[in-house]
Amino acid sequence: MSEPAHPDVAPYRALRRPRHARFVEAIDQRALPHAQVTVKIADAHTAALAIRRMWVRGAPLIGAVGAYGLAMALQQDASDAALGTAIRALDATRPTAVNLRWALERVRRSVAMLPASERADAAWSEADDIAAEDVDINHAIGTAGLELLRDIARKRGGPINVMTHCNAGALATCGWGTATAPLFLAHAEGLPLHVWVSETRPRLQGANLTAWELAQRGIPHTLFVDSASGLLLRRGDADVVIVGADRVARNGDVCNKIGTYDKALAARDNDVAFYVALPSPTIDWSLASGDAIPIETRDGDEVLTTTGRDDYGQASTVTIAPAGTRAVNYAFDVTPSRLVTGLVTERGIVRSASLLGAIFPEHAAAALAT
Ligand code: MRU
Repeated sequence: MSEPAHPDVAPYRALRRPRHARFVEAIDQRALPHAQVTVKIADAHTAALAIRRMWVRGAPLIGAVGAYGLAMALQQDASDAALGTAIRALDATRPTAVNLRWALERVRRSVAMLPASERADAAWSEADDIAAEDVDINHAIGTAGLELLRDIARKRGGPINVMTHCNAGALATCGWGTATAPLFLAHAEGLPLHVWVSETRPRLQGANLTAWELAQRGIPHTLFVDSASGLLLRRGDADVVIVGADRVARNGDVCNKIGTYDKALAARDNDVAFYVALPSPTIDWSLASGDAIPIETRDGDEVLTTTGRDDYGQASTVTIAPAGTRAVNYAFDVTPSRLVTGLVTERGIVRSASLLGAIFPEHAAAALAT
């Protein structure tokens, strides 16, 4: 079973496979921050449900759970027909994060030429590799982004203020997170840091998950409503913005949680650097620009209601709009590459998308070959 070279030091892990187990355990992120609930995922149907209903979420984590879900399906039936059916079912759960499709295709390729009897073992091993590699990729992203933060601290002399959006943390990955990895490494080496956490309506990934992770690691942070980012950036309260990504096109257009584009516009208008942290599996080499990225639309109820804990410690969902109100719920938006200062990847910071192919020649070549 492959293990990461740089395991995350956090007292929590979004996903784990107990040694030799033919199931995985995941934190049910719907219950955070008020309760830490672990769910057992032991079949492909439950894996698909966990992704669609967002028990687990975040592009790299969705990819890892998809890979394990495929291994579980092959455990039941390793025929070509079953393989195809399982891939379609898992791929149909959420359309935007390209890591899911990437992971399913990687597992499919690893078992395609094998006899049915060997496929399940090979798929479990490939899923383990995907999970372990994700941790090390994020640690490398952290190391690259740490240089950015050190640089700002040198220039600024004193605590640096980083704004983020949604949750691109360890909870969205198999460890370290992407946008959070530089923050966690900076804090670990004693760099004075404060994080502006955007609540991220409607599912509140910032308020529920990012604030929770920062509290778990003792990193100072302040929560703000999404629509306050313009004011904070104009007042100079944030030195840099670092967010994650669900899909990045060859030209550097970035798709991430709804509200990211607004922050990129406000950052540009106020000369604040806007970085996107992403692992290479999040790059969709088949897309020339972000225009073709499928944007997930979710149930309007997520907008019409909000969930929290009441005074009795009970989680409760309340309605915030008049009965009969129509709501639209786009889960992601696309930030054009012209607003992105740089892409923070496991192979360093890319300040012009035209360099992506040079930094990831094997991927660029494979994309051109298809
Ligand atoms: O709808 P979600 O919670 O899956 O959206 C997550 C994001 O937009 C993250 O920023 C992105 O997946 C990067 S996670 C490292």
